[in-house]
This record gives sequence, structure tokens and C-alpha cells, in this order.
Amino acid sequence: MGMIETQKKIRRLLDDKNAILLAHYYQRDEIQDIADILGDSLALSIEAAETTADVIVFAGVRFMAESAAILSPDKTVLLPRLDVGCPLADKITVEELQQAKAEHPGTKVVTYVNSTAEIKAHSDICCTSANAVRIVGSLDADTVLMVPDGNLARYTARFTEKEIIPWKGFCYVHNNLLPDEVQKVKEAHPGAPVAVHPECRPEVIEMADFVGSTGGILKFARQTEAQKVIIGTEQGIMHQLKKESPGKTFIPASDHLICLDMKRMTLDDILSSLLEMKHVIQVPEDIRVPAGLALSRMLEASR
Ligand code: 13P
Ligand code: SF4
Repeated sequence: MGMIETQKKIRRLLDDKNAILLAHYYQRDEIQDIADILGDSLALSIEAAETTADVIVFAGVRFMAESAAILSPDKTVLLPRLDVGCPLADKITVEELQQAKAEHPGTKVVTYVNSTAEIKAHSDICCTSANAVRIVGSLDADTVLMVPDGNLARYTARFTEKEIIPWKGFCYVHNNLLPDEVQKVKEAHPGAPVAVHPECRPEVIEMADFVGSTGGILKFARQTEAQKVIIGTEQGIMHQLKKESPGKTFIPASDHLICLDMKRMTLDDILSSLLEMKHVIQVPEDIRVPAGLALSRMLEASR
């Protein structure tokens, strides 16, 4: 079956089953093109919590589908492939988190949504890259332990008086972007602003003109007067950047900004998922309820 035929079949099945397709900006172009909602992690979790659809098909990585299942326990959440993790989410175990909490009594735990349901369940509140500063600001605590992404924690620390204790996790895609690479691209495109994701290392953040979530980077690109922008995040975002700002040029800060897990999902996987109603993502109640509290607190604080 050709690509367009598969896309049409998916759309028909989505309608027949009162299902919606949520897709992240890092997904393959042909998946982004047929999504009901294309967004960053925050926009997708808001939609997952509010949709009236019976079925949510998640084109993203596991933690995203898990969050949808936590927020909408009465809906069927399908993840078309099970081998799409986020390596960052596995950079902290519950035992490590318990130990860190014991070492810093009285500290609030802010957990990046790129985490397992179990870690969320042991947290005070969640955050995404779009709302981390606001979430930390909303807390009644002088010390905040931020897990699992150390770079996001260090970036957030720039905007608060609170003491931020960063966990040591990182995203291999963003952490691998090095200052020398950014410097070379800057020199090749003088005057072009640099927009990066807060999962990048501090030395790269220092070189950026804009730092934000994928949704934030898209907004910056739409609004800037610059005609050329250097992009320091996963390359999947290029598709939407070009669609939203067709007259502008977007230059990847490096050619290795590729998330293998995000790219694993194909249209055929989504088609099989809808035909066979697989793979249903469920979170056991003893984890779902406390994890849901941490996610709902985040949604409440970001309104
Ligand atoms: P956003 O929340 O900015 O969409 O980022 C998600 C992610 O996985 C970044 O690597
Ligand atoms: Fe996880 Fe990094 Fe991939 Fe985002 S880009 S899903 S943080 S591995």
C-alpha cells in the first residue's frame, strides 16, 4: 500500500472508532501530517486529559502514552509500538529517588514528564520543558530536587532563587550537541539566531538566543524577524518549522540530532495498531493515582 493510501486508511479508522491521533513534533513527517493534534509534551498531555474521544493513539514515546493513560483512565490509549522508550526516562530508579529524598529532607521533587510512571508517582509535581520555571516558582519550598534531566534542572535554576538540586540524567540526543558544532554553524550563517531545547548542555544554552520547548521554538521561529534560524533540537521539528514559516530557512545545529526511538514509529505501525487495537497502555492503580496527582498539579499550575 502506498503512503497516501495508508494515511487515508488510518484517518478512516480513526473516525470509525471515535479515536484521535496525537503526535509529537519529532515523529516522522508523514505521521505529523495526519495527526489530530501535533504538539509538544505539554500540549499533548493537555489534549490527552481533555479529549472526548474514546481512543487515543499516541505517536510518540512510551512516557507520553503512559501519561495519557494516567490522565484519562476511562479511555483506551494505544501505543503502536512497544519498543519506543525515552532513554532519559530510565536515568533514575525509584530506589535512587528515595535515597535522594532522604538525603535532602524537606525538598520538593519536580519530575520532568520524560520519566517513568513510578517516578512520577513518587514526586510532588511534574513539569515539561515548556513550564519548568513556572512549576518551580509555584512551589512552597526553598529547595527543589529536579529529576531526571540535569540540563533542564540547571537551566531552570537560572530563573529562581530556590536551590535546585539537579539529578544526573540527560538526553543523549540533546546532550551530544557540542559548543564547537554550534560555533561552526554560527560562523557559516552569521547573524542567524540560535534556538535550542533546554535539554542541551549549559555551554550550548550559553550560545543560544532562544531556549524553549519544541512548541516554544516553533513560536520563536514564527515571530522572529530573522529569515534564517539555527535549530538545536531533534530534526523532526524541521517539518513543522517549514510548514509554519515557509519563507524562512532553518539550519540544523548538527546533523546528528536524531532521536532513534521517535523515528522507530511508522505509518504501518499506526495502521496495525488501529486494526488490532494494540498496544493498550495501562498503569496499575497504585501507581496511576499518585502519578496522576503529580501530572494534574502540573496542568493546574500551568493554566
Ligand atoms: P518538548 O516537551 O519540548 O516537546 O520535548 C520533549 C522531548 O522529548 C524533548 O527531547
Ligand atoms: Fe527522550 Fe531525548 Fe528522544 Fe526526547 S529526544 S524522547 S528526551 S531521548
